[in-house]
Amino acid sequence: MVVTVLVVLISYLLGSVSFSILIAKWVKGIDIRNHGSGNAGATNTLRVLGKGPGIAVFLLDIAKGVVAVILGLYVAGGDWGPVLCGLAAIAGHNWPVWFGFKGGKGIATTVGVMATLAIVPALIAGAVAIASIAITRFVSLGSLIFALLLPIFIWNFGDKPHTYVWASLVVCLLAFVRHRTNIVKLLQGKENKLGARKG
Ligand code: G3P
Repeated sequence: MVVTVLVVLISYLLGSVSFSILIAKWVKGIDIRNHGSGNAGATNTLRVLGKGPGIAVFLLDIAKGVVAVILGLYVAGGDWGPVLCGLAAIAGHNWPVWFGFKGGKGIATTVGVMATLAIVPALIAGAVAIASIAITRFVSLGSLIFALLLPIFIWNFGDKPHTYVWASLVVCLLAFVRHRTNIVKLLQGKENKLGARKG
């Protein structure tokens, strides 16, 4: 029990390492949260700083989720250990203790978490999300589609513990909560398209 609490806490602290904030500060001396969409994430880094930093942030944010779940699997163990560690990393990304609790929307870290928990459902959901981004150029829409498909695919594949289905429902809910302003903009036709530089 103590070990699980410790590993969940470490996962939260790891998730709180906001690579978009760090890389934007390092590359351009700016706080990414004051530019573009204001989000501390890979999409906004791509929008404000370009491809290289955007891809670097995306991969590093994914890695946080992967490492947290691996810690959960091998240190905490059981069906709940990896789930709690993964969710803690996403919570850290969204509300980072190191950066005034103002973080990102958690999608790249969710990719890392869910791909480590359930690779096939995550890959299929990811493929549909990438296709929708390629067609519409709305990353937010692709992110929401990814989050929505995760519980459906994990449930239907049926070979995963129930805790993983719960995890996918929680990450789906978190994604929709964190994308509230994107959803409003999508409905109003004002959402940023990929490739439109801002900031
Ligand atoms: O993962 C974040 C993405 O879905 C939306 O980012 O910066 O366009 O709000 P942004």
